[in-house]
Amino acid sequence: MSFPIAVLVSGEGSNLQAILDTVHGRDGIEVVCVASSRAGARGLERARDAGVPAEAFEIGAYPGRDERDAALADWLEGHGARLVVLAGFMELLGSPFIQCFEGRIVNVHPSLLPAFPGVGAIEQALAHGVKLIGVTVHFVDEGVDSGPIVLQESIELPYARPIEGIEALVHEVEHRLLPRAIRLIAAGAVTSDPDDPRRVVIAEEDDGHG
Ligand code: GRF
Repeated sequence: MSFPIAVLVSGEGSNLQAILDTVHGRDGIEVVCVASSRAGARGLERARDAGVPAEAFEIGAYPGRDERDAALADWLEGHGARLVVLAGFMELLGSPFIQCFEGRIVNVHPSLLPAFPGVGAIEQALAHGVKLIGVTVHFVDEGVDSGPIVLQESIELPYARPIEGIEALVHEVEHRLLPRAIRLIAAGAVTSDPDDPRRVVIAEEDDGHG
């Protein structure tokens, strides 16, 4: 079985690195291309270091977002991507892009959705004084972090801590949860409940890699 995936980044790309290190080249899963919304993203370097084609698609280089999205979609399709993984991709993608890859885009978000969608999720959670934060991997629909949830993992925060330490905890979870979701999807273990498409059904657990 071959399962080509594309990864979209905007910055550091530590989630991309986790995918390259723990998923890429295993069980038929291949990262076939990496795209970034920013030319200077470290994630592009990480991709090239791994021998994966990488390119920036900055909105400023196109007449507008629609044209950028169309060029990006063409490029991803040209590489045969079956799944598009948003791993720290910090821009919204328009409806035509979402429809082009309908049900085939996942995102990792640093909160227990539906709490704290959008940017600054960890800051929002801390400002709210929550005792539980976490990570969500979800399918992408046309809203902001609003698509059906694939996996979630919580992190207890019994007392206040500096945000840097909390970000590190969140990253640790992201680097396990996103690869695990990709492995499950590639294995065909992730489906929607036909009676309630918001409910994602996980048919079987993965083999413990993550
Ligand atoms: C992650 O925390 C992700 O959840 C958020 O942006 C961060 C990206 O980190 N959307 P990296 O680029 O993968 O290191």
